[in-house]
Amino acid sequence: MVSTQSVIATNSGLQYLPKSTESVQESSPNQELLPLTAKVNSLDHLEIGGWDVPALVEKFGSPLYIVDEDTLRTACRQYRDALKQHYPGESLVLYASKAWSSLAVCALCGSEGLGIDVVSGGELYTAIQAGVKPDKIYFHGNNKSQAELTLAIETDCIIVVDNWLELETLAALKNQQKEEVQNPTKIMIRFTPGIECHTHEYIRTGHLDSKFGFDPNQLNDVFAFISKEELLSLIGIHAHIGSQIFEVQPHQDLAGVMVDAMTTAMSYNLPIKEINIGGGLGIRYTEADDPPSIETWVHKVSTAMVDACQARQLPLPKLLCEPGRSIIGPACVTAYTVGSQKQIPDIRTYISVDGGMSDNPRPITYQSMYRAVVANRLSEASTETVTIAGKHCESGDVLIKNATLPATQPGDCLVVMATGAYNYSMASNYNRLPRPAAVLVSNNEVNVILQRETYQDLLNQDTLPERIAMGNNSI
Ligand code: LLP
Repeated sequence: MVSTQSVIATNSGLQYLPKSTESVQESSPNQELLPLTAKVNSLDHLEIGGWDVPALVEKFGSPLYIVDEDTLRTACRQYRDALKQHYPGESLVLYASKAWSSLAVCALCGSEGLGIDVVSGGELYTAIQAGVKPDKIYFHGNNKSQAELTLAIETDCIIVVDNWLELETLAALKNQQKEEVQNPTKIMIRFTPGIECHTHEYIRTGHLDSKFGFDPNQLNDVFAFISKEELLSLIGIHAHIGSQIFEVQPHQDLAGVMVDAMTTAMSYNLPIKEINIGGGLGIRYTEADDPPSIETWVHKVSTAMVDACQARQLPLPKLLCEPGRSIIGPACVTAYTVGSQKQIPDIRTYISVDGGMSDNPRPITYQSMYRAVVANRLSEASTETVTIAGKHCESGDVLIKNATLPATQPGDCLVVMATGAYNYSMASNYNRLPRPAAVLVSNNEVNVILQRETYQDLLNQDTLPERIAMGNNSI
């Protein structure tokens, strides 16, 4: 086993509990590893939203996504209230539902006054079914199909147009509509602002070599085209720089670029009302991550937008941002049950859990780092360095390399923290593992918001041709 002497014995799961503040609402969720309501209870168990985590696993099985309602609502409110406080114009926060799209999460964000950013027909359908009003749904995507565009037109949501094919298809679809149902469809234009940021190359989108959005030098032609289309009403412009960003400067720089693009649009008699600066604020996955708080981020980008408008003597647009990760990421943990262990002398010890890359594909996709605690012995000292592996037929199916934990046994409840964003939404059925259940916890209630998939669910889309079922092998 790898030497463990260097691990400080006082390290334990307790170190990850949120900093205690007067009220939960004062901490910025994206700066914490555990949800804001996380506590240790008298059984030395991790408790979230007033619920004992090992007991939740006993009741609902594992792997289990546990979403803390308080943390989720706090993140929504901090974005919303900070914008109200620091931006003198109108504003709207959109939850980027690609981070976790489901009825409960969309409805909850909607109930906090947020709009929803969707990126496919499926996400659009989910937001609508969750009761979100179409005039607060913004439809992104770099290759929307005709069917998706038709659905968006019928739904009457705002379409964030990404490229020429989409713009021309949309104009054609609108012009084909019968006169009696013709009303202008609201659109925004997405462009690549040419701003670099430091994050994983797969999640960087603001630089010029990106598949998303119009090139900035196409904007004149785009605005000229739109100015002739009576059935397309340009309400704003959009840019998104990237994701899991810890610097604020790129978004501050973005303000000037956006306001310049707004000026260009105005020269085509297109009065832009809204500027959407995208999402991207990072969250804490390990102690090394030190993102700015939601409040600080909003304050700085709001000030930058006000300054950029004042410098050009332009009225303030409605300011939109669309965070995903920093809304849902810190609100959720994934609880697993520990199973087999393998010690390879002088190399490493593997501890396997009952999920893995199917419920959290981020480590294998982006080499993302996570931290874990043993939820049924939270205060026990971390004395071992182990590698936490999933149960998939893939050597790379490792959730955490070199995790420091107390000695574990089969049956222990292992909790991986900050798993709300891009875990469930990118989950798969690799090796035909049913996707986990998710519960929403709050002080008085625990509600299942995603049912655990069953083996039968795995077969629901399968069909077996009759000839093959009958054993007729002739072709
Ligand atoms: N708006 C647009 C147009 C986006 O493309 C994204 C994320 C967001 C907003 C939300 O960004 P956030 O606030 O969540 O950083 N699967 C990757 C992340 C991909 C991000 C895609 N776009 C991951 O697991 O890290």
